[in-house]
Amino acid sequence: MPRDYVEDELGRTSVFKSEKYLSIDYVPENLPHRETELRTLAQSFKTMITSPGQTSQKFIIQGPVGTGKTAVTKRFSEQLVQAAVRRKIRLRKIHINCRVNKSEYLVYLKILRTFKPNFPRRGHSPEEVLQMIIEVLDAEDRYLLLILDELDYFIKQKGVDIIYNLTRLMDDRLNAPQRLSIIGIGRKIPLDDSAFDASTLSTLQRNVLYFEKYTSNALRDILSERIKMAFEPGAIMEETISLICDIASNRGDARYAIELLWRGGKQADAVGSDVIIPDYVRKAKADTHPELREEVFETLPLHNKLLLLAAARQLKEARSVYVTIGEVEEMYQAVCEEFGKQSRAHTQIWEWVQDLDAHGVIDAKKSGVGQRGQTTLIGLSDVPADLLEQFMVNLLE
Ligand SMILES: Nc1ncnc2c1ncn2[C@@H]1O[C@H](COP(=O)(O)OP(=O)(O)OP(=O)(O)O)[C@@H](O)[C@H]1O
Ligand SMILES: [Mg+2]
Repeated sequence: MPRDYVEDELGRTSVFKSEKYLSIDYVPENLPHRETELRTLAQSFKTMITSPGQTSQKFIIQGPVGTGKTAVTKRFSEQLVQAAVRRKIRLRKIHINCRVNKSEYLVYLKILRTFKPNFPRRGHSPEEVLQMIIEVLDAEDRYLLLILDELDYFIKQKGVDIIYNLTRLMDDRLNAPQRLSIIGIGRKIPLDDSAFDASTLSTLQRNVLYFEKYTSNALRDILSERIKMAFEPGAIMEETISLICDIASNRGDARYAIELLWRGGKQADAVGSDVIIPDYVRKAKADTHPELREEVFETLPLHNKLLLLAAARQLKEARSVYVTIGEVEEMYQAVCEEFGKQSRAHTQIWEWVQDLDAHGVIDAKKSGVGQRGQTTLIGLSDVPADLLEQFMVNLLE
């Protein structure tokens, strides 16, 4: 049966009805295979709307890449806020990406600024800002659900003080209303007794929700809803969907599955085909590496990008699993020259390496015995060096 094509002015057709349903930021109304998790959250945070002020909830959500941690939390927190509105409770939710807001101060500032948009950027200590947050909440009789996303990254860099300080904040005011509840999200959040006192630790450990990888069948359910919204009817073959689910189920990663779907569609459009055949997805798979997430790399400062490019080149040329930080530094100087940038000092480079390691982009470790002197070795976690090199060059250009 012929389909109704949407033709552009040049007479080209597209398999897409609406690409936006495949974009990174889109959170669907329905989240198949996360019903239990949504229910658990609703149950645990119920008191925020039944008896606001009585308890301060702390929750940790953990799980591998693309398992819906961010999407589920966004959906859940919106529902909770709506329920609060119906009951005339002044509940706010703030979703903070800790990869972008890199210090405790910046996180607190972001919170305070949602209530006081003109609050000056400088001039206060983190403790003062934190105190002011509580004062605003008290003064305006508000409650806050704070979501700290990508918290694992933050902790790797700055330690767990932020959780400690935020949880203590409510513990210290036993007779006043509990205004703040927290959800921390990460792939893996270290919960051990070196960082927390026994009672905080046991609260946190009791409230960990683990998101499992999606199976191939789960991915199929997730994709089929997107397909209905994003594509023209009949634009994708059953076999193609199966192939995507099989590829992505290795990682259990819905983001990767959606990306393959989108790229398959792009490929169909590029060659003027009205159906997405399995081969387009195979091609998409060869062109993408799920580790190379643009939204992660774009936020890196210029010199971190240059350094990363240098590491990729050095690893490619050396054809070994690890290279030393000294070798990378030399390559970095060459890269800086190539891009017409002044290279930075040695001490900075060590810091950036730690930073990239925390991002999970590179794998840094101390050299073992047998190596003369101790040095830092740099490898790549998953991405092939030449792919990373190409990706960084594109990003830098
Ligand atoms: N159950 C689901 N139903 C529909 N879409 C989903 C589901 N789970 C995840 N997705 C989609 O998959 C993509 C990745 O999900 P999400 O960003 O929530 O993963 P994550 O666990 O936060 O990953 P990361 O650890 O990389 O931050 C998003 O586009 C999201 O909308
Ligand atoms: Mg996420």
